[in-house]
Amino acid sequence: MSTIDTVTGDITRETTDAIVNAANSTLLGGGGVDGAIHRAAGPRLLEACRRVRRTSFPDGLPVGEAVATDAFDLPCRWVIHTVGPNAYRGQTHPALLASCFTRSLDVAAELGAASIAFPAISAGAYGWDADEVARIAVAAVGEHPKPGIETVRFVLFGPRVFEAFQQALSERGD
Ligand code: APR
Repeated sequence: MSTIDTVTGDITRETTDAIVNAANSTLLGGGGVDGAIHRAAGPRLLEACRRVRRTSFPDGLPVGEAVATDAFDLPCRWVIHTVGPNAYRGQTHPALLASCFTRSLDVAAELGAASIAFPAISAGAYGWDADEVARIAVAAVGEHPKPGIETVRFVLFGPRVFEAFQQALSERGD
């Protein structure tokens, strides 16, 4: 039975086996979580992402898909990159966002990760409402079988998003 918890803080400092990056389709870095993870992981992460692009996703990582790399200078073991839906591009279907969480859990389970940390995917530059992200994330994670995964942690930046996830968890009775 997995535990699901919420903390406020910087996901780059998490020591879970895997942390999830709110990337973009290029996988070549950006701002927000993506920028923080690349800065903390060091330049080898960008090299690894370029390799992923060359070998597996030459047209870029699709929205809702997930792929893992090593974590290099980060304290965790793996970074699972996923691309959230962008509300400013009309990508507002909940299933697109739910897929970011479920595909990341699939990848984490395939790696044998026992713990995983998620940011509030799409709740920043991609313009989704924090309450909706929280509801979708908590439901998707709650319904996924999560084989071998003992801990799922939502790592949130600031009280607004933290409250949204606390509320979503309490509504689900978690
Ligand atoms: N740790 C945890 N959460 C963070 C961190 C951090 N270090 N930095 C930002 N956040 C929070 C934001 O406050 C927001 O609540 O993560 C959430 C997601 O915000 P973004 O990082 O902007 O991600 P997203 O909305 O999915 O937009 C992705 O932004 O950075 C670019 O390359 C990225 O193009 C992609 C887009």
